Amino acid sequence: MNEILNLAVDIAERAGTLLLDRPAKLDIDTKSSDIDIVTQMDRASEKLIVDAILAARPDDGIIGEEGADRPSKSGYTWVIDPIDGTVNYFYNMHGWSVSIAVKDDKGPIVGVVYAPTLNSMYTATRDGGAFLNGAPIKCNDPVELNRAMISTGFHYREEIRKLEVEQFNRLILKVRDIRRNGSAALDICHVAAGFVDGYYEIGLHPWDRDAADLIASEAGAKVTVHQLPKGELTIAAGPHLHQLLSANLLG
Ligand code: IPD
Ligand code: CA
Ligand code: CA
Repeated sequence: MNEILNLAVDIAERAGTLLLDRPAKLDIDTKSSDIDIVTQMDRASEKLIVDAILAARPDDGIIGEEGADRPSKSGYTWVIDPIDGTVNYFYNMHGWSVSIAVKDDKGPIVGVVYAPTLNSMYTATRDGGAFLNGAPIKCNDPVELNRAMISTGFHYREEIRKLEVEQFNRLILKVRDIRRNGSAALDICHVAAGFVDGYYEIGLHPWDRDAADLIASEAGAKVTVHQLPKGELTIAAGPHLHQLLSANLLG
């Protein structure tokens, strides 16, 4: 597992270096809606990551947000988001990340979320604990709802945003405050490190969530995914707050 972790860290660092070297102009295409964007740097980062995985471990499977899709012959599959927080990246705002998970048939065994502009390398291995730049991290617990600092994200599709507005309006009256930072992977890592108390969002994909899910779980947080009519709701928090948040968001 450590060998795979070291490889994932090395690849994330190389992708981070590529991404910090911003081109003079970002070319934009749109995806699920006019505000869901992808740049040439998302694609370049995914290519670097895929090439590096295949050079080291040609039998592993790969699922990447920008189209990488390779079946696994080894039992291990890499799930990658080459830039989580592309909108932050587009505006040259700090707080985007590279997210890399490696899974076997029981779930993630390695999680790496790297945010070069924040100097933050979050790592975890299954049953091996969670770390920020090599130092162990733990989530905040117990935290009451009325003292909770929550982060969330908003979907690119209007019909889901309408639902998120309802959730937000309900919750903002009951908690300390709510942040929208722009990278789901980092938001969940922030729960792991205690930089926020809890996180929720509708509509995440495995590449947004898998690496950070392991990191937060290894840091003592509970991470759950609930099927709603319009998409999956992810909730991450220390066990006490997780129960209160879930009751509020699902009730
Ligand atoms: C997005 C970010 C954002 C979240 C969206 C994600 P992307 O990922 O994580 O914070 O609110 O749901 O899709 O598109 O930048 O990879
Ligand atoms: Ca993402
Ligand atoms: Ca992305």
